[in-house]
Amino acid sequence: MTDGLPMSVPASGLPARVRIHEVGARDGLQNEKATVPTAVKAEFIHRLAAAGLGTIEATSFVHPKWVPQLADAAELMPLLADVDAHLPVLVPNERGLERALALGVREIAVFGSATESFAKANLNRTVDESLAMFEPVVARAREAGATVRGYLSMCFGDPWEGPVPVDRVAAVARRLHDLGCTELSLGDTIGVATPGHVTALLAALGEQGIPTDRLAVHFHDTYGQALSNTLAALQQGVTVVDASAGGLGGCPYAKSATGNLATEDLVWMLNGLGIDTGVDLDRLTATSVWMAEQLGRPSPSRTVRALSHQEP
Ligand code: HMG
Ligand code: MG
Repeated sequence: MTDGLPMSVPASGLPARVRIHEVGARDGLQNEKATVPTAVKAEFIHRLAAAGLGTIEATSFVHPKWVPQLADAAELMPLLADVDAHLPVLVPNERGLERALALGVREIAVFGSATESFAKANLNRTVDESLAMFEPVVARAREAGATVRGYLSMCFGDPWEGPVPVDRVAAVARRLHDLGCTELSLGDTIGVATPGHVTALLAALGEQGIPTDRLAVHFHDTYGQALSNTLAALQQGVTVVDASAGGLGGCPYAKSATGNLATEDLVWMLNGLGIDTGVDLDRLTATSVWMAEQLGRPSPSRTVRALSHQEP
């Protein structure tokens, strides 16, 4: 692979550096039909770190029956002891937090919903009940010295409820922020956002007093809008972007969710804009090609396909 870099032409009004929050091993693999062996997951995460990704969401300490693909979380974490990267994990409740803390994890994420339908489908709780469930989790995690990311799903549209008003999203985001989350990731779980909607939501969050430097964006690419939406968020000052190597991903409790924004597609654009990520695009692409072989199907990422000379 020698054609790994676009010409770098910076544009005004954009950050100098973006931190990529890699979610392929968690958001990607949680939605695979086949359960990936623990050793393959460990190798995937080692390879992602070697490609320069500094934050790699490793797994989830959720109920194993709800997400069987990640039921090996306790076996996986010890295999990652030598990984030189931040390795946050998802925990929905105190049971999940205790399991994670016992293994030495000090970076966690809770995951709430802006809509009642998804809160019920994903957490078996109302929005209020799920925030009540998170309250002791965030407090105990902070006491233990852990950072706490708060995901907020269905920030743009919901498969059961349709479009979600920005004011409702901003109100739930404010409550997550007030619980003590150190970062909030805005999830377009089913990929229906468009750039103007992203700008409007970020403005509503600003009106709620949530600082932009606490925000991350989490786009799924169902309608091919994830990169455009990311650019809109960068223009508003966001500098943390979630992405999934090779475009793996989805959500088992939202059937219309497809893969996340592919990390390679993101890095290609950021390289072109002269924005530093620390990621080696060739090594990352090789990792996604390898992972696609493990899964037995090609990566949906356009950049992976182009750089590995696969048919478009
Ligand atoms: P529940 O059935 O209501 O659980 O599920 P419960 O609290 O009634 O407990 C029932 C039993 O489960 C108990 O055992 C608990 O101990 C056990 P029993 O006493 O009956 O023997 N249990 C656990 N065991 C292990 N680990 C745990 C745990 N919790 C309870 N953590 C629950 C409630 C929250 C547990 C369940 O709904 C769940 O696990 N949900 C997770 C769903 C999930 O992981 N979804 C995908 C992640 S979200 C996402 O992908 C979106 C995102 O990418 C952003 C975006 O795109 O928008 C982040
Ligand atoms: Mg997701």
